[in-house]
Amino acid sequence: MIDKKLIQKYDKPLPRYTSYPPATSFHAEYTADDYKKSVQLSNQQEPQGISLYLHIPFCPRLCLYCGCTTLITRQDEMIANYLEALKKEITMVAEWLDLTRPVTQIHWGGGTPNALSAEQVGDIMALINSTFKVEATTEIAIECNPAHLTLEYLDALFEMGFNRISLGIQDFNEEVLNTVHRDLPNLPIDTLTQYIRQHGVGVNYDFIYGLPGQTEASFAQTIQKALELRPDRLVTFSYAHVPWVKPHQNILEKAGLPSAEEKLAMFTTAYQMMVDSGDYVAIGSITLPLKKTI
Ligand SMILES: C[S@@+](CC[C@H](N)C(=O)[O-])C[C@H]1O[C@@H](n2cnc3c(N)ncnc32)[C@H](O)[C@@H]1O
Ligand code: SF4
Repeated sequence: MIDKKLIQKYDKPLPRYTSYPPATSFHAEYTADDYKKSVQLSNQQEPQGISLYLHIPFCPRLCLYCGCTTLITRQDEMIANYLEALKKEITMVAEWLDLTRPVTQIHWGGGTPNALSAEQVGDIMALINSTFKVEATTEIAIECNPAHLTLEYLDALFEMGFNRISLGIQDFNEEVLNTVHRDLPNLPIDTLTQYIRQHGVGVNYDFIYGLPGQTEASFAQTIQKALELRPDRLVTFSYAHVPWVKPHQNILEKAGLPSAEEKLAMFTTAYQMMVDSGDYVAIGSITLPLKKTI
């Protein structure tokens, strides 16, 4: 049961908590040497598995709600230079790690990793495979913007061993997507989902609630459609409105942001729909049986 009073009490705009420590707690006193020591110290931890996160901080077009660390560019040279630096970092970090440790997870996030060419992704994956102990059970995941996704590109990802594809859908309502300057999917989401699933690969969906034009009823329609497509995992992010960090978000205030009460209604309705479907259980919840995750 959700305690509405508690949610209202803590209804404060904050950056999303997607890493530990959160990006807002990064500081200059943490030196390169501290980083090296932390990585080396991890060799003593149990379990021994290594998780690798690769950040691709580039997107072809800015979504007005975006709170991610990204740069809007189509400059090939800048992207190529970044990828060269990434390869150097992979080699450097590998020197500090016990390479007999298995890699349990590889996650490509962004920005938009699928804005890279398949060759560019393959080049980095080849380096990772030749450097680390990547196993058949390693989860290899990538965040994809469906606006830039083709079946050929997916084929290339499957070939490279990706076994979890995350689709940034945000909302199925095209009016909402147009208001936030989000490019529409290149292929229907059901086509992409079926194709991914046919290849035995897991599929995740990302949604955001709290964007201009969304209502409890419209967001419920989006969730209903998602439930019909049955992704393995569904995320509903609360829109993090932090214009002092991301000034481009100011424009959304003019478009009209839903109130805290409306956001809460969107969240609770979506949550209930997912739980009632019987197919999903909230991560962190103790409700059983575990089928798919929200
Ligand atoms: C790096 S993006 C995913 C890949 C790709 N860039 C895309 O947009 O499809 C990660 C996810 O963060 C979420 N997100 C981005 N900005 C947000 C914000 N201000 N508040 C809440 N969620 C946000 C979106 O759901 C997005 O799919
Ligand atoms: S594509 Fe993703 S990372 Fe890029 S601007 Fe849009 S939400 Fe942000």
